[in-house]
Amino acid sequence: MKVLGIETSCDETGVAIYDSEQGLLADTLYSQVAMHSEYGGVVPELASRDHIRKLLPLISETLALANLEASSIDAVAYTAGPGLVGALMVGASTGRALAMGWGVPAIGVHHMEGHLLAPMLEDNPPEFPFVALLVSGGHTQLVKVPRIGSYELLGESLDDAAGEAFDKAAKMLGLDYPGGPLIAKLAAKGDRSRLRFPRPMTDRPGLDFSFSGLKTFTMNTIAAHKVDGQLSAQDQADIAAAFEEAAVDTLTIKCRRALQQTGLKQLIIAGGVSANLRLRESLEKMVKKEKAKLFYARQEFCTDNGAMIAYAGCQRLLAGQSSDLVIEARPRWPM
Ligand code: KG4
Ligand code: ZN
Repeated sequence: MKVLGIETSCDETGVAIYDSEQGLLADTLYSQVAMHSEYGGVVPELASRDHIRKLLPLISETLALANLEASSIDAVAYTAGPGLVGALMVGASTGRALAMGWGVPAIGVHHMEGHLLAPMLEDNPPEFPFVALLVSGGHTQLVKVPRIGSYELLGESLDDAAGEAFDKAAKMLGLDYPGGPLIAKLAAKGDRSRLRFPRPMTDRPGLDFSFSGLKTFTMNTIAAHKVDGQLSAQDQADIAAAFEEAAVDTLTIKCRRALQQTGLKQLIIAGGVSANLRLRESLEKMVKKEKAKLFYARQEFCTDNGAMIAYAGCQRLLAGQSSDLVIEARPRWPM
């Protein structure tokens, strides 16, 4: 079965074709990041307009890359939520309409299920059951996954998501959007042991997170180090490093706890923040001690992409599910 996947929940237009027998056949992405970075964050209206401009050309480019006619597509999977409603509606209406025109089924996919399953696109994928850490711009969740479609929430952020905390800290440091990769780059030049930031909620039991205190601590530290309203390059890098260490350490402590609590030996990390190399390094060390294994997707499949939606949609369709002719776009949608 060949599934066309469409992702338009935020600021990336992603299209891919996944074949249940042959794997991923083609994958294309158009990122709006440069357009939004001028405004310091995603402008929803501009995002929708750009998805409309880019989506159909990208679909035809993806078919050409896979050397396929539209008639060989067996189903269409589109991101139905959560995300920006206008952006979601572009992918949902285009995907649903194409499926109707082609006479094939369509399925609305949960964006976070897409992220969670992205590591399955790699060689030697994990086997169920496993623990998943979902860390994106909108979500921070620890989930127990006994099988596809079954997601047991173990803990989540009570305020900001991890990616959001990275983005906000970056903004305070005068960096562009999205801030995660820029903080990581700057932190590499910093002294990781000079400043110590708090590891929120690690001193009490449980698997929930909170990142707003870390944000305030970052803001106060920046204010305390400014001279004539300016941060020195070294202070800026050291603050980025201290922030990254605190965020990574907090996520690592909670992941260890989740493995111990469930007795499971496989940990998947997914979502934009799972691209962070320091996080991967820290988790690799932790799983080694726990005699467990860590899995993640290649860098470009950690952030938003069409491949994860094509894959997740394909699994759901193989399990006999599909969506009817009602177009699904749900800005808020628990997994
Ligand atoms: O999954 P994603 O592409 O979109 C959402 O579904 O939210 O995640 C985007 C988030 C942004 O907050 C971005 O700053 C963060 O992932 N991110 C990173 C890194 N790359 C992306 N955070 C830390 N380190 C990175 N290398
Ligand atoms: Zn995402």
